[in-house]
Amino acid sequence: MGKQKKMSEIIIQIDGKEVKTAEGVTILEAAQKADIFIPTLYHHEKLEPFGACRLCTVEVEVRGWKSLVAACLYPVEKDLVVRTRSEKVDKTRKLILEFLLAHAPCSPQLQDLAEEYGADRDRFEKESSFCILCGLCIRYCAEVKKKNAVGFVNNGTRREIRFIPEIATTECINCKECFELCPTSYLQAAFVLTESLALSTDSSPTGLKK
Ligand code: SF4
Ligand code: FES
Repeated sequence: MGKQKKMSEIIIQIDGKEVKTAEGVTILEAAQKADIFIPTLYHHEKLEPFGACRLCTVEVEVRGWKSLVAACLYPVEKDLVVRTRSEKVDKTRKLILEFLLAHAPCSPQLQDLAEEYGADRDRFEKESSFCILCGLCIRYCAEVKKKNAVGFVNNGTRREIRFIPEIATTECINCKECFELCPTSYLQAAFVLTESLALSTDSSPTGLKK
């Protein structure tokens, strides 16, 4: 039988509340266990933390040092003090949301968060790509399903997600698990497009079936 390393417990403070947690877990995990809400966007418990959206930004204080960190990445340590809401935290989240809303103004998830943080939907010029490039669909398909049926193509402002028809036509029909992860409706639209293109170019009887 392999030896199991026992994680020691430490006490941290989140929003003035003492929270007992295992050493080494992230702030987000410790907060979730203590029923303290921290918003996330490019995050899924089955996927490795990515740390790209920064919506989970919180303020931490360690030995007198204060900084803003991503709660989904930052590991807890003894005597850590965390503030999940502060002027700086809210300002950061507001700015992130305003930027994302320029890409996906109709996303219900973004709209709810915008209301909470007073984000102005019209602050940045609209570039309605509808995809906010969170990569959740891509990472879920690669890490959990091990299929790689969807990926990023192009760079810079032309970057977008695309289904790989050869894989999607056989693997996605009975899966579609990534659909509910998408914070916008872009993923479904991209899949319907792939499906339609495959149908229009495949005259064989083994073409896509719903
Ligand atoms: S399609 Fe949706 S889940 Fe995939 S990267 Fe774009 S916003 Fe994220
Ligand atoms: S949830 Fe996006 S950076 Fe943490």
